[in-house]
Amino acid sequence: MIVIPLIERKRDGKRLTETEWHELVAAYARGAVPDYQMAALMMAVRLNGLEPAELTALTDAMCESGTQLRFGPDVPPRVDKHSTGGVGDKVSIVLAPLMAAAGVAVPMVSGRGLAHTGGTLDKLQSIRGFRVDLSLEEAVAQVGRIGAALIGQTAEIAPADRKLYALRDATATVDAIALMAASIMSKKLAEGLNGLVLDIKRGSGAFLPDLDDGLELARIMVRLGADRGCLTVALLTAMDRPLGHACGNAIEVAESIAALRNEGPADLLEVVYRLGVEMLHVVGIEPDRQRARATLEATMATGRALNKFREIVAAQGGDPRVVDDVSLLPRAPVVKDYAATRSGYVAGVEPRRLGQAIVTMGGGRQRMEDAVDPAVGLVVHRKPGDRVERGEPVVTIHARDADGLAEGQRALGEAVQIVPEMPDSALPLISHRVTVDGVEELA
Ligand code: URA
Repeated sequence: MIVIPLIERKRDGKRLTETEWHELVAAYARGAVPDYQMAALMMAVRLNGLEPAELTALTDAMCESGTQLRFGPDVPPRVDKHSTGGVGDKVSIVLAPLMAAAGVAVPMVSGRGLAHTGGTLDKLQSIRGFRVDLSLEEAVAQVGRIGAALIGQTAEIAPADRKLYALRDATATVDAIALMAASIMSKKLAEGLNGLVLDIKRGSGAFLPDLDDGLELARIMVRLGADRGCLTVALLTAMDRPLGHACGNAIEVAESIAALRNEGPADLLEVVYRLGVEMLHVVGIEPDRQRARATLEATMATGRALNKFREIVAAQGGDPRVVDDVSLLPRAPVVKDYAATRSGYVAGVEPRRLGQAIVTMGGGRQRMEDAVDPAVGLVVHRKPGDRVERGEPVVTIHARDADGLAEGQRALGEAVQIVPEMPDSALPLISHRVTVDGVEELA
């Protein structure tokens, strides 16, 4: 395939045809286009954007580069959730079993930690034996049997995106909104879904901190999904502080289990319920929001969501006893409080800095091949707006050793801000809802 004229056209702000995108992506996936040409083209797209028809063609071509999941007629409607990533974002671990217990099928394909954000797969692997590398056949069978599977992207799902994403990561082209939308949706559309709900994070800890960027990404993805018969709704949620209290791997699993026991934390449960209501809506099971919420709350209160999580853990080879005894999860040897240095109000617990500290402490990867320490992390007791007295614990540090503890203390010195007066309010927890009909401001 002759690629130079295509690069020239995108460089000059013109468009490629749908056929050209399909041929290009197929050729790149089979190794017939060198990385340096694809990198030049991606940079041209990053600078000049994509027209809607080009975006659709690129998404379809990446989706069609691999296997698309197929489910039998007796499997309930399929729905998944995608988050753009954050710190303390353990929503998937609570939402997948809750939705499966409420009668929808959840073939959830999750990711690993990326930059300062945590990843569902790393968190789940802090449960001894938990397999996230099920084959697609195993995952489809498990969804048919118990209603949910939580797996990683396999080599069979959108392989062109896998290759392209690694290339973009190394060429400063990840943050192109159109490319992000095509990348995420190509994988989600391969899951054989009837509906999809997006959790688009905004605020300092998000990959796209600005509201306008988040809304644009939401609009593009909602449209891509709807055009392909996968009704998609997006909620914009706050990431100017961590979600819940626990930030790390094992400690987030423990907090997820507490949430599945209906013990909070309130912000986590609120995001879970609101996304869950949208999930029941997009697959047409319960369009009435109040009834949907009542169904989900009852599913949680009766222990059915917790039981479903136990079933999922066992089905994926994990030790199901952790669900009843979180002390079986890995524990950090050094646990120490970080205390308020003055009395006042918490004005900030900056999530990006917390996430970076957890990576440095070993809870995330600095290089792709790094092992993740499941036990380390930070438990945030006070959030923006909370009153705190000098000497009271604001965060508890869970570290592997003295170096990890020192890194946690250093990071908290920068991330935690205490001021004498009540600060301006933080971002609303859930601020916007984006559907094919437009943007609704919720707060
Ligand atoms: N996540 C993805 O899967 N793709 C992107 O491009 C960005 C985030």
